[in-house]
This record gives sequence, structure tokens and C-alpha cells, in this order.
Amino acid sequence: MSRSSAARSATNAATATGDEISPHLVARGVGIQYPSPDAEGGVFTAVDGVDLEVRHGEFVVVVGPSGCGKTTFLHSVAGLIPTTSGELLLSGTPIRGPGPERALVFQQPSLLPWRTVRRNVSYGPDLQGTLGRAELRERVDDLLRLVGLEGFGNRFPSTLSGGMQQRVNLARALAVEPELLLLDEPFAALDAQTRERMQAELLQIWEQLGMTAIFVTHDIKEAVLLADRVLVFTAGPGRVKTWIDVDLPRPRKPEASREEAFHSLEDRIWDELHQTPTP
Ligand SMILES: Nc1ncnc2c1ncn2[C@@H]1O[C@H](COP(=O)(O)OP(=O)(O)O)[C@@H](O)[C@H]1O
Ligand SMILES: [Mg+2]
Repeated sequence: MSRSSAARSATNAATATGDEISPHLVARGVGIQYPSPDAEGGVFTAVDGVDLEVRHGEFVVVVGPSGCGKTTFLHSVAGLIPTTSGELLLSGTPIRGPGPERALVFQQPSLLPWRTVRRNVSYGPDLQGTLGRAELRERVDDLLRLVGLEGFGNRFPSTLSGGMQQRVNLARALAVEPELLLLDEPFAALDAQTRERMQAELLQIWEQLGMTAIFVTHDIKEAVLLADRVLVFTAGPGRVKTWIDVDLPRPRKPEASREEAFHSLEDRIWDELHQTPTP
């Protein structure tokens, strides 16, 4: 059994017996504000009063209208933007900044152009300095194989397609062996075929490595394909509108999207996104 299935089974068993297993991520009354670009000294509220819990090994997908604060929230979990109110707890410890147990995959590949693919992937472990040379080489080789880029290690990013660059981006995030992987619309810029392949690869990696994943997307089909639970945000300021359980069997293949149960989940998410909020 993979670590993630084990974690999910443990969570299910605990729920069945009424035991408590502490969540991986907790948000309590989280508000995030930016200095207002319009009024001097004013503030703009991007996220407001977010309460949520994410379990260990869970795959959560976040959807919501454009500009509702999904990226802002994800960046706060990554430790890049401070919360203005409330608190974010990772395994019970307040998030105060970035940490090696979290990795963020940005929407656009953010590779260092002067480093080869191999040296981009090894960037995090290089900074941490905890791996010996042989061990690091082995980890990078494993990751390049995992994302289907074996043999491309000595290339520079500019010689790769967008899809390949995004795979390097993913490998780089995985290189620090994060417990929590944060992904901000990572496949949005890819063509449909590459996107489908990347979704399947990501699911396989997540199953294999057993990490917790929080994935932002605009694509409802992608949300259903990937998620254990879908979190729907309201229009800005971002608040939790609702959660939708995706109780489809795993492992999931792209063909699952032709099933009736899949379509009805897509419809539910669509409805939640398009309901105008009551005043
Ligand atoms: N650095 C910033 N300064 C001021 N406002 C910002 C900044 N970044 C984002 N915003 C605003 O915060 C809101 C949420 O943005 P964002 O988190 O990027 O939304 P989403 O990812 O859901 O599209 C938007 O109204 C956006 O204009
Ligand atoms: Mg965004």
C-alpha cells in the first residue's frame, strides 16, 4: 500500500472509531490583506475568515472565481505572504515563513536559465546541503525518471518545451521531499494532451510518495480527476463557500471522466461556482 493510501485508510479507520488524528494543515480565521494600491495607508482584503482542515496524505483541489485569493492563500501556506489575522498551523506549528517541508509549484515554470535541468532539480537540496554528492545524483536521477525526463539532465531550460519545463518545475519541488506540495494552476498553460499526461503523472507521484497536496485550478474536470475533496472559494474576498467530496475510486485514469458519477460531480462544482451569492 502506498503511503498516501495508508494515510487515508488510517484517517478513515480513525473516523470510524472516533479517534482524533491531528490534521496536517489548519487555517483558523485566516485573513490576508495587501496595502491598497488606490488609497494611501488603506488595505485591500484578498482572503477573509478562512477556516479549514486538510488531512495528512489528502489531495485537496481549490477552485474559485478569478481574483478570489487562491494564489494569495496558497502563498501564505507556503510562507511567502504573512496572514493579517487568524493563524495557519502546519502539523500544529504556526507557519511563520517558508520551510523545507513545503514546496510550491508556480503557474509559470520558474527555472533558473543558467542552470542545467539537473542543477535546477538539485537546487533545493543544494541549499539545504544535507545530501552527499552520490545521494543527490541518485535523487535527481530518480526524479527525472519519475517525470519522464531521463536523458535531459544536461539540457538548459531554454531548449525544452513548456510542458517539459513544467515537469522540471515539478521535479524541483519534489526534490526536497516535501510533506506538503502546493501547486498553483501548474498545468494551465499546457496543451490538452500534455496536461492529461501531467495529471496522470502527478497522481502517480502523489500515490507513490504519499504527500499532502493542495492544487489550485480553473479546470473543473481536472479538479474532479485529482481531488479527494474540492474546496470552493467565494468571489473576493476569498472565503470558504463549500467542500465537495470526490468519492471516486483510485487509481483514477483519464477515462474516469466519461463516467456518470464524474459528470455529476463536475455539475455540482459548476453550480457552486456559478451561483450568485445571496446579498
Ligand atoms: N501584491 C498585491 N498587491 C495588492 N493586491 C494584490 C496583490 N496580489 C494580488 N492582489 C489582489 O488580491 C486579490 C486576489 O488575488 P489572487 O490571490 O492572485 O487571486 P486568484 O489566484 O484567486 O486569481 C485580487 O483582487 C488581486 O488583484
Ligand atoms: Mg491565481
